[in-house]
Amino acid sequence: MRSSRYGIQILPSVLAADFSRLEPELRSVEEGGIDILHLDVMDGQFVPNLTFGPLLVKAIDKLSEKTLDVHLMVNEPAYLIPPFRKAGADWITIHTEACDDVAETLKAIRDSGALAGLAINPETPLSDAIPYFSDIHLMLLMTVSPGFGGQSFRAEVIPKIEQAELIREREGHDFVIEVDGGIGMETAGRVVDAGAELLVAGSAVFDQDDRPTAIRALLDRAVASQS
Ligand code: DX5
Ligand code: ZN
Repeated sequence: MRSSRYGIQILPSVLAADFSRLEPELRSVEEGGIDILHLDVMDGQFVPNLTFGPLLVKAIDKLSEKTLDVHLMVNEPAYLIPPFRKAGADWITIHTEACDDVAETLKAIRDSGALAGLAINPETPLSDAIPYFSDIHLMLLMTVSPGFGGQSFRAEVIPKIEQAELIREREGHDFVIEVDGGIGMETAGRVVDAGAELLVAGSAVFDQDDRPTAIRALLDRAVASQS
């Protein structure tokens, strides 16, 4: 049995878009029938790359009606939760590795009115996330080391996806399972087969000229594997 709240979905990662023409880039993925945009916020400390803050999230919120899934790759991000929420973030995800007090940070997200997500890096054991399973809307299993788009999928994460789904079903938790990094035509089926529902895809979508076709092809591949 699988949580069917969102079904299987492709979430374009705006990190891979051409920021000099953001509006047509957003329209091109919306034409693929997506519901959720994935926005990668990097602080140059938790990860060795720096991206954008609430200002750009606010601009994207103005340009698109879609749900904004904001992935904070930021050390101790509590201070950023209210400004991201105000900017239009619907979902806010933090990393266990980046927070001293994970429970408190998740509570700050929920208190802001956003839905709370928890992410773990490929090297981090699922046991670091399990204590928070009843507090979260979204469990994000990174399938690359966070920091950059276009990296190769880390197949060793597959058992963690299976384990997360197993525990969720056994214990009756309510979160959705998201994967992020290296998702493409070769990997979309494998992660769905393991239990993932929301598939973030950056380069596999934006590197293609025809984004709607790329999104539909990924989704077809993913749905074909649904167990
Ligand atoms: C990586 C980001 C991802 C990234 C995925 O740190 O969290 O969302 O944009 O890019 P691809 O799909 O190209 O691996
Ligand atoms: Zn991400």
